[in-house]
Amino acid sequence: MLTGKLVTFEGPDGAGKTSALNAIVAKLKPRLGDRLVVTREPGGNHISEAIRTIILDRNNTMMDDRTEALLYAAARRQHIVQEILPALKQNQLVLCDRYIDSSVAYQGAGREIGEQAVYDMNQFATQGLTPDLTLYFDVDAAVGLKRIQTHRQNEINRLDVEALSFHHKVQAAYLRLLAANPERIKRVDASQPLEAVVSEALQIMTAQLPTYLTTEGKS
Ligand SMILES: Nc1ncnc2c1ncn2[C@@H]1O[C@H](COP(=O)(O)OP(=O)(O)O)[C@@H](O)[C@H]1O
Ligand SMILES: [Mg+2]
Repeated sequence: MLTGKLVTFEGPDGAGKTSALNAIVAKLKPRLGDRLVVTREPGGNHISEAIRTIILDRNNTMMDDRTEALLYAAARRQHIVQEILPALKQNQLVLCDRYIDSSVAYQGAGREIGEQAVYDMNQFATQGLTPDLTLYFDVDAAVGLKRIQTHRQNEINRLDVEALSFHHKVQAAYLRLLAANPERIKRVDASQPLEAVVSEALQIMTAQLPTYLTTEGKS
């Protein structure tokens, strides 16, 4: 029995997912202790990390977009089996930085190999393991990119057009996922200052997972 809960953090690069996740963990850890598990793909296991190394290897310029999508799904599979499922079986609250929606948005839409095809292939990889809750950190793609270009903050216009259009495709796909999955995916206004983002995310988590988080997020 999977009595734990899986919460995934999604959104464009620079939306503040990792920053918010770290702040949320700091707030929840004192209460939840070992019941709180924080992870990100590829996870800490040897197989997923080896797959990730292949994906990121700059020498692999021949990498086909579908090969890349399959490798992400393979790494995800092993992460689920070795890390996420054991935690869910032990009634833990698992917070995961990116999951299937990232593949649908980045590979399916960004690389244009098909959102439905990438989704279907990931259903095979995950055997349908769907997050109990997904927080979508909603910020304009250009704002996100600007945030991560910390030393070039006033020069967003120097990004090449292709990069920005790729990120707009990713963002549009995320918004389609949000519209199609209103029960699972909840929008967080990630254009706010980090503190407000964290507070909104915690409020949503509390409302959606009351048995885990009965008093958090009300401050
Ligand atoms: N709400 C926010 N407002 C302004 N800057 C932010 C906010 N959240 C995060 N940042 C900054 O934006 C950059 C990217 O944040 P990060 O959490 O790594 O985003 P992500 O994990 O979504 O790619 C970091 O430099 C971070 O300090
Ligand atoms: Mg991040």
